[in-house]
Amino acid sequence: MISRIDSRSDTFLRNAESYAGLVAELRERVQWAMAGGGEKLRARHLERGKLPVRDRIDLLLDAGSPFLELSALAGFGLYGNEVPAAGVVTGIGRVSGVPCMLIANDATVKGGSFFAETVRKHVRAQEIAWENRLPCLYLVDCGGAYLPEQDRVFPDFGHFGTTFYHQCRMSADGLPQLSAVFGGCTAGGAYIPALSDESVMVEGTGRIHLGGPPIVKAAIAEVVDGETLGGAAMHARVSGVTDYLAVNEHQALAKLRDIVAHLNWPRAGHATRLPVRAPLYDAQEIGGIVGTDLKQPYDVREVIARLVDGSEMQEFKPEYGATLVTTFAHLHGYPLGILANNGVLFSESSLKGAHFIELCNQRRIPLLFLQNITGFMVGTEAERGGIAKHSAKLVYAMATARVPRFTVMIGGSYGAGNYGMSGRGFAPRFLFSWPNSRIATMSADVASNVLLDLRRGSLKGDADPAALAELEAQTRAQFDAQSDPYYATARLWDDGIIEPTHTRDVLGICLELADASTPRFEGVSPVYRM
Ligand code: COA
Repeated sequence: MISRIDSRSDTFLRNAESYAGLVAELRERVQWAMAGGGEKLRARHLERGKLPVRDRIDLLLDAGSPFLELSALAGFGLYGNEVPAAGVVTGIGRVSGVPCMLIANDATVKGGSFFAETVRKHVRAQEIAWENRLPCLYLVDCGGAYLPEQDRVFPDFGHFGTTFYHQCRMSADGLPQLSAVFGGCTAGGAYIPALSDESVMVEGTGRIHLGGPPIVKAAIAEVVDGETLGGAAMHARVSGVTDYLAVNEHQALAKLRDIVAHLNWPRAGHATRLPVRAPLYDAQEIGGIVGTDLKQPYDVREVIARLVDGSEMQEFKPEYGATLVTTFAHLHGYPLGILANNGVLFSESSLKGAHFIELCNQRRIPLLFLQNITGFMVGTEAERGGIAKHSAKLVYAMATARVPRFTVMIGGSYGAGNYGMSGRGFAPRFLFSWPNSRIATMSADVASNVLLDLRRGSLKGDADPAALAELEAQTRAQFDAQSDPYYATARLWDDGIIEPTHTRDVLGICLELADASTPRFEGVSPVYRM
């Protein structure tokens, strides 16, 4: 594609400047997350001879290989901002040549104990590992459930118990579950290594006990020190709870690398991969194209041209259903089918999207949804044209697609548009957001009008103008706050906020994982074999 962007125009420069502000803010917030529990606790951690969680990850990964960190800003703005990254680092990286999911507690954040967002992040990492068929490596330094939050952490499906359920089921499904224990693991924390296929413990600092010394004292009046009760040497030599004893953290991480090197892990890929070619246009220009005002229209092909190999697109039905761009392309050499919003979804664009998804299914091409959508078209004309049925066809085709789906929220994600474009409720393999994105049932403008109309209707002319103005202001403030991408990412509604310039490489990793983990499906049986 030939770009029509004038990077010297006033609009471009204005957009680029405001977008740069969003990127700076994102980087600052990611720094906050990376700092964990802060200087004082970090110093205490180091004094105990322990490595910071991110150093452990660096030592575990193959030198120079990328680490795709997930949901770095989980917990942002919650609990007085005292639980950076929700106290656990998760992400995908290569260990002894094998792509693995890493789930690593940060003991400087409330002893690595589990808040609701910690559990959600842990569970989500396991879901990703399962679907992409990755071994799970747990770097355990964890105080179990954060007790004041126990009702949001312990009892329900999706809570702490589910992390163990996942461990058992993944292991039974052939996905190795491996642990290295660096700190005190009590109660729930103890089950992470205990349910692992193999575990390593660090002598001196690693502990595993169902009840720690205070619990033992309270329960059976036995007075015992932690090392005797659940130390690494005892577990390696007496109880057999752990399989390997390491004299320090470096040795434990090296042992984990050795275990992975001997997994006999298959490496299969199915796609016809082409040589990788950089896009013709610089992804740095994306901010200048999309800007920060969601009401400002632009041609989404200009974004795609800055993500895909050689900026080349084989656009499907370019003359029809113009508000949804559907195009075949390659990204990091992998084939990809892209559905990208270019305005409100009409019946035509919905049907075109459903048709395109079927083509990708047949050709085994993964799907990328670039969401910037206010919703499906409303109104008498649209309803008479069958928008309800046609939009449902897009939703159905997307939900039942037999190829991996990835979603990036590059702008607004409102109402049923979120559904049709593979929102979180439809379980795409990965879902990332850009810092300019917004997600809600509707925009603050529309929501305040809808609620005012409803209130006026129920008051039947007795409306107090001051009360109505207050309702409008409250609704607007609520929708503004709750559609903020940081509100969403803090609560794990996405797998992380990423910069537009990182998007191509992030998707390249996702495509590689999907390619290696998706079996060749058999498709529909021929009529004589039904
Ligand atoms: N629930 C609530 N708070 C917890 C917690 C838990 N499970 N585990 C740790 N914390 C808090 C501590 O109260 C402390 O909070 P503060 O900084 O506000 O005072 C902070 O996390 C750090 O804990 P601390 O004990 O100072 O760290 P440590 O590195 O010396 O020890 C543990 C870490 C995990 C070994 C230790 O905190 C511990 O044994 N926790 C309780 C474990 C437990 O019984 N869990 C049962 C869960 S069902």
